[in-house]
Amino acid sequence: MNTYTLNINGQDRVFEAAAETPLLWILRDTLGLTGTKYGCGVGLCGTCTVHLNGSPVRSCVLPVSAVGTGRVTTIEGLGQNDQLTPLQEAWIEHDVPQCGYCQSGQLMTASALLANNPRPTEGQIRAAMDGNLCRCATYPRIREAIRAAAAK
Ligand code: FES
Ligand code: FES
Repeated sequence: MNTYTLNINGQDRVFEAAAETPLLWILRDTLGLTGTKYGCGVGLCGTCTVHLNGSPVRSCVLPVSAVGTGRVTTIEGLGQNDQLTPLQEAWIEHDVPQCGYCQSGQLMTASALLANNPRPTEGQIRAAMDGNLCRCATYPRIREAIRAAAAK
């Protein structure tokens, strides 16, 4: 076991873990940040997506030892001071979730897209969201919400 200090949602969090432990386990089991979900566990579905320095990463396949001094943002840290982001508001307005299981990963991928490209084309939206699976097939509403947030 090693001691790690990771910056998560703007706070330094200190914990012990084995180097190969996936970041997802640290978030959920060690730190209690259960908004990030476990889906496939092998980097294929996007359910576990968080941001590392603003870019979407799959926390189920990211060893904690690889995070270093990077800034991790989870769904709990997406808004500021308990305020929803325009994207989260659009998610509610467009009634995007069905069962909800994939949705934090969808929001993290979509929010990284808009942070880097505030006015994405339809093709860019589809390309960015392509690897985030939803077994309830909410894809059209996800794209609607992204378009609506971009239009604001
Ligand atoms: S749970 Fe990480 S990509 Fe599926
Ligand atoms: S809302 Fe059910 S898996 Fe996406």
